[in-house]
Amino acid sequence: MTKKIAVLPGDGIGPEIVVEAVKVLEALKLQGLDVALEYGLIGGAAYDEAGTPLPAETVTISKDADAILLGAVGGYKWESLDIRVRPEKGLLGIRSELNLFANLRPAILYPQLADASTLKAEVVAGLDLLIVRELTGGIYFGQPRGVKTLENGEREGFNTLVYRESEVNRIGKVAFDIARKRDGRVCSVDKANVLECTEMWRETMTDLATNYDDVELSHMYVDNAAMQLVRAPKQFDVMVTTNMFGDILSDCASMLTGSIGMLPSASLDENSKGMYEPIHGSAPDIAGQDLANPLATILSVAMMLRYSLDEAGMADKVEAAVSTVLDQGLRTADIHSEGMSKVGTAEMGDAVVAALN
Ligand code: IPM
Ligand code: MG
Repeated sequence: MTKKIAVLPGDGIGPEIVVEAVKVLEALKLQGLDVALEYGLIGGAAYDEAGTPLPAETVTISKDADAILLGAVGGYKWESLDIRVRPEKGLLGIRSELNLFANLRPAILYPQLADASTLKAEVVAGLDLLIVRELTGGIYFGQPRGVKTLENGEREGFNTLVYRESEVNRIGKVAFDIARKRDGRVCSVDKANVLECTEMWRETMTDLATNYDDVELSHMYVDNAAMQLVRAPKQFDVMVTTNMFGDILSDCASMLTGSIGMLPSASLDENSKGMYEPIHGSAPDIAGQDLANPLATILSVAMMLRYSLDEAGMADKVEAAVSTVLDQGLRTADIHSEGMSKVGTAEMGDAVVAALN
């Protein structure tokens, strides 16, 4: 049966990188992939057109789809809007509406890019870690939130970090199950020395670990984890953490691989339905200039094939094609180094398609 993919290009470089990922999907269709694409508006583009960053129709087509491909949201143009209608709300809204609580952010170093990392090659060579970020709870969604004016006229801003045991268990299980298929190690990252909520997180993870004798659980405070990621990143296999800590640590982890332009992600619900997006943002400073690296989005398609479309063979092919173009020395500006050929967004996408065929 034809599987449906909702395509949400969004803002900034989102539309350009999604075009390249769609080229890859079209190439795979010629090789037997049975999918139909349906486009939807999200973020600032949706606000401009429909007055909301997440139109009801986008939610409908996304709920109806087997998988969702998302570019990125946000840009200068919408920065002064009320926070409730800012582009980012569209992204947070769809994550929440579809219950995409498990965000998988792999950081894998392609050997060809060892020199593109700002860290020494020996620190990152062979890196293969996975950040499992809780995506629909924590301080991103906790109530109460807002800014109020006190009696003395001073403003006070507040957000709430809140997790239930059931939410911690749910994301913990995802991390432990994946660790079983990898190196069997989970590091849970928290701030249990200061925040009660994450002390409860740590206790819950420890209890959960008793069901997984074959997985080794360790705990780390988030400040130390940030330091260890740049000091000795290869010590990690799977890291599981809260929404906000995962946001921060995954940007940090991305630079180990040379560029944030290389990192895909999958956001999954309880039934492995998923939304796939690069972890970088909309990069409005380089939008529309054929400068963006489309590989993170193309690698997100590979994750989609693997996790939502049951096409592991095709996922392998896409990843191999990315490796081939890197072998050929093709580099977008973000991963360019001496002696390599600098290419634009579209040329990179075309090269991946050529390698696929
Ligand atoms: C990410 C992004 C988003 C987040 C923003 C755009 C809302 O930084 O996916 O990491 O904070 O989750
Ligand atoms: Mg982020």
